[in-house]
Amino acid sequence: MKVAVLGAAGGIGQALSLLLKLDLPAGTDLALYDLAPVTPGVAVDLSHIPTAVKVTGYGKEDLHTALAGADIVMIPAGMPRKPGMDRSDLFNINAGVVKTLAEAIVQQCPKALVGIITNPVNTTVAIAADVFKKAGTYDPRRLFGVTTLDVIRAETFIGELKGKNPTEVTVPVIGGHSGTTILPLLSQVAGVSFSDDEVASLTHRIQNAGTEVVEAKAGGGSATLSMGQAAARFCISLIKGLQGEKVTEYAYVEGNGEYARFFAQPITLGKNGVEALLPIGTLSGYEQKAMNDMLGTLKADISLGEEFVKNN
Ligand code: 2OP
Repeated sequence: MKVAVLGAAGGIGQALSLLLKLDLPAGTDLALYDLAPVTPGVAVDLSHIPTAVKVTGYGKEDLHTALAGADIVMIPAGMPRKPGMDRSDLFNINAGVVKTLAEAIVQQCPKALVGIITNPVNTTVAIAADVFKKAGTYDPRRLFGVTTLDVIRAETFIGELKGKNPTEVTVPVIGGHSGTTILPLLSQVAGVSFSDDEVASLTHRIQNAGTEVVEAKAGGGSATLSMGQAAARFCISLIKGLQGEKVTEYAYVEGNGEYARFFAQPITLGKNGVEALLPIGTLSGYEQKAMNDMLGTLKADISLGEEFVKNN
């Protein structure tokens, strides 16, 4: 098994790579790629941790070698947000980054499972999909926008509010990965109930949690450690799926188009990536309204990615 991390020297990339060095199954190759000159050094640094995962670092010129034969590609590459920026403000820089990386994936590992973290995820996943489509390699079962961070944030905040161990809280989060498109289904959280005020404030906090970190870091970037953990958890689930285990996760995928072309929803992972799309269940009145209100934004985010590939 080979896992490639593109953007491995950045804040998310380093946290993700560390967790993968610790958690990937023995015998896995972990290929770290980044434009930053420090990348081979990050690989040497990680290689001193005694696990049976072989880490190799690749610089600027070696993207294709890093990707060759990869089974899974995780992509945190690109620019993070600064205070006052929305994830969509990153579009101008990150759209081109994701397009370039997707084109290299087409050539080196067209069957890999690809997890996109680069923001704006609502749009960059559409970009990767349409690059793959143009090349004739697109398989919607193999492309994911990583929305696990929204799920773990929801679990944490609900644990805090209700005095529960967050590892025992399970929260469905559907839609997209930006502002109001992030829709936690609090009505489906087992074993807890919420007042209307709690629903409104928790929903807002979960939707705004990325901005909470951006503001707290005061110009130093966006979430890196929690995002690294979320991405590692998702990557390990992809691995388990490839190994034949059936795992349920939430991710932003191209499903049956009932709500939008791409939509974060529960999925079963297996040997080919998405094995099954699972139903989102019954929504409360509050959730149904929030869903209706955000679909226009989500669809516009997706169109932006589609147009970018059409015109570039
Ligand atoms: C976040 O939600 C970085 O998009 C990431 O904080």
